[in-house]
Amino acid sequence: MKSIAMPLLLALFVTMGILDVAFAEEKKPFAPNVNMDTGAISVPEDYYLWPTLGTWSHSKVDDEGAAVIHEYHVVYTQPATIEYYKKKRRFPDGAVLVKELLHAESMSMTTGPVVGHGTTLKGFFVLVRDTKGRFKSSALWGDGWGWSLFNPDDLKKTVSKNYKIDCIPCHTPALDLAPRNAKKDDKWIYTLGYPVFREK
Ligand code: HEC
Repeated sequence: MKSIAMPLLLALFVTMGILDVAFAEEKKPFAPNVNMDTGAISVPEDYYLWPTLGTWSHSKVDDEGAAVIHEYHVVYTQPATIEYYKKKRRFPDGAVLVKELLHAESMSMTTGPVVGHGTTLKGFFVLVRDTKGRFKSSALWGDGWGWSLFNPDDLKKTVSKNYKIDCIPCHTPALDLAPRNAKKDDKWIYTLGYPVFREK
């Protein structure tokens, strides 16, 4: 009896060990700002230490009829995402794109007549690349990405409800602007604004 029980017990422990590792692998955060239990996305705490990919400037005509810059969108990502994209021409699983929205003011400076500078935070749009189709039941994950918008007063809790309504209509023009050889789900990104991704 003893001689059978021992190998059986051993086999059981080994299997449990393997399962444990597999489970840990599944739960391991694939991106720094994703809750692996719920799929909830937050604004990564140290995003502002990451490199910027590019800046979009928004102008409008003010009450006096002058064109002014009133908003900037600054896009950040992890250094590893840039390295990966430059080599493989696609976004890696776990790539995080943070778009920081800033109010801006314009003034005449020694460099030009209408020079804008960022002032206060207006909000954040965050995307997380997911090549594995995780969080299938969440309305904030799909088409290869996790999608969320944040007000500046709560960087942990998104105000987005459904990416298909909140995000996709506005990102559809990106599909035609993307490089033709880009991977399908990468085409949702407005990469034309990020010089570091340009092919030489
Ligand atoms: C009003 C249209 C509009 C909506 C709504 C919108 N986007 Fe965008 N998004 C854009 C445009 C246009 C850009 C690039 C130019 C800019 O920011 O002005 C962009 C850029 C981004 C970027 C930077 C990466 C890129 O694609 O270039 C992120 C991140 C982003 N959006 C996330 C989101 C998320 C998440 C949602 C939904 C919660 C969303 N956006 C909803 C139009 C929109």
